[in-house]
Amino acid sequence: MTTLEILTFLVYLVGSVTFILGLKFLASPTSARRGNRLAATGMAIVVLWVFITEFVLRENGLSTVWILAVGIPIGAVAGVVGARRVPMTAMPQMVAIFNGAGGGAAALVAAAEFLHFAGDGRELLSVPFMVATLLGAVIGSVSFTGSIIAFGKLQGIVSGRPVTYPGDKVVTGILLVGILGLGVALTVFTNDVTPFLVFVALALVLGVAAVMPIGGADMPVVVSLLNSYTGIAVAATGFVLGNYALLVAGTLVGASGGILTQLMCRAMNRSLFNVLFGAFGTAGGTVAAGADGEQTVREISADDAAVLMAYGKKVIIVPGYGMAVAQAQGPVRELMDLLVARGVDVEFAIHPVAGRMPGHMNVLLAEANVPYERLKEMDEINDDFANADVALVIGANDVTNPAARTDQSSPIYGMPILNVDHAHNVVVLKRSMAAGFAGIANPLYSDPKTAMLFGDAKKTVQALVSGVKNA
Ligand code: TAP
Repeated sequence: MTTLEILTFLVYLVGSVTFILGLKFLASPTSARRGNRLAATGMAIVVLWVFITEFVLRENGLSTVWILAVGIPIGAVAGVVGARRVPMTAMPQMVAIFNGAGGGAAALVAAAEFLHFAGDGRELLSVPFMVATLLGAVIGSVSFTGSIIAFGKLQGIVSGRPVTYPGDKVVTGILLVGILGLGVALTVFTNDVTPFLVFVALALVLGVAAVMPIGGADMPVVVSLLNSYTGIAVAATGFVLGNYALLVAGTLVGASGGILTQLMCRAMNRSLFNVLFGAFGTAGGTVAAGADGEQTVREISADDAAVLMAYGKKVIIVPGYGMAVAQAQGPVRELMDLLVARGVDVEFAIHPVAGRMPGHMNVLLAEANVPYERLKEMDEINDDFANADVALVIGANDVTNPAARTDQSSPIYGMPILNVDHAHNVVVLKRSMAAGFAGIANPLYSDPKTAMLFGDAKKTVQALVSGVKNA
């Protein structure tokens, strides 16, 4: 080993350690920022090292350095602008598109390696090399087109409804068999470029075919799964290139994406199979036929709801997707401050799949400087609802739906929910009687102790703030 190789190995090791520690820190809201910065610094060190050793120091490296000199600033600007400008509600789309770029890059590297060493009439390459290269190419390609469709669905460019047609599963099956057959042929019989290109083309089509039948609102789970695929593709690429940093980073992304996917499915009480093949959910926010529209509900004015909270001992706030859409987290924080100043015990009940992405509510409330110790996980707070004078539900629907406990025919039957209906009074803030993500009625709204305060959550919370000030 040359000194340069040893140094490269050490830099990769440092990068890998920062990724692992970064992930560890990301597990808690208090240390998440530090974790993100640490991992980003590690990544920057590795990229800089590769840039210097592979392009500046290497013989003839300077002739191709312009590719990185152009690519790195473009990537950096896209990353910084994206992260700063994109609103929290559009974060799943951003992750989808960045993930697609990662998958596409892994597929391109795998293709470049294949074309470099293989080719018509050349000697067959070793089985481990071919397996890793083909895995990188196929998984990266599926992740690339799958993520683009997921982005389109989340952004409303592609229909959010599950797009199915008779025989669609057969078509997907044929694509899979074709990919598998060509993969075996490329490993055992031939090094030709044409079957490789067909192999990649089939994988690109498979990405589209696999994601189109899934409903738009399930896209966060799909994005997390594709993220895990990209990680595996990157790890395979790392193996092909003998690059330990890629191998470790890819494995971490693959494993964490897989775990996250599993956690989301568990929190919704749905199997991954149901998410991928169940054609579940509507585009979100539509009224389900015969759903909430037929319920008899009681309305309450903002002033009356404010009095209820201001003179109560304990208020539990339940944030959901609607709070994110309305960007109501700032006024919510103000409401909390006013109630706390009056001696009311205020806590936030966070359901693991409230909103549209993992940690959605935590991030929004942290953004508004709500102290972390007031945010309680579902299991931690569920028993406290019985002692709460008011449960204030802000744009949350499915995560409070008691039908999940009792109605076996409900699509969310078995999903653990927040025990909002155990509180003495429930005040629900939403714009209409429209259903949530699952597209179903919520019997909580016709419960005699529930009162509805209709309107955009930002405006209604602001009205509650004024009400508490005057109470
Ligand atoms: P939802 O059940 O989707 O309900 C959100 C409610 O917010 C809607 O009923 C809507 O009613 C209301 N709303 C929308 N915009 C509003 C605004 N500007 N002001 C006030 N209200 C507004 O949300 P949830 O309770 O947070 O549950 C999340 C759902 O997403 C679950 O079914 C979960 O399984 C699913 N899901 C979550 C994730 C993750 S990881 N979080 C991933 C995939 C799926 P109106 O239209 O009447 O206002």
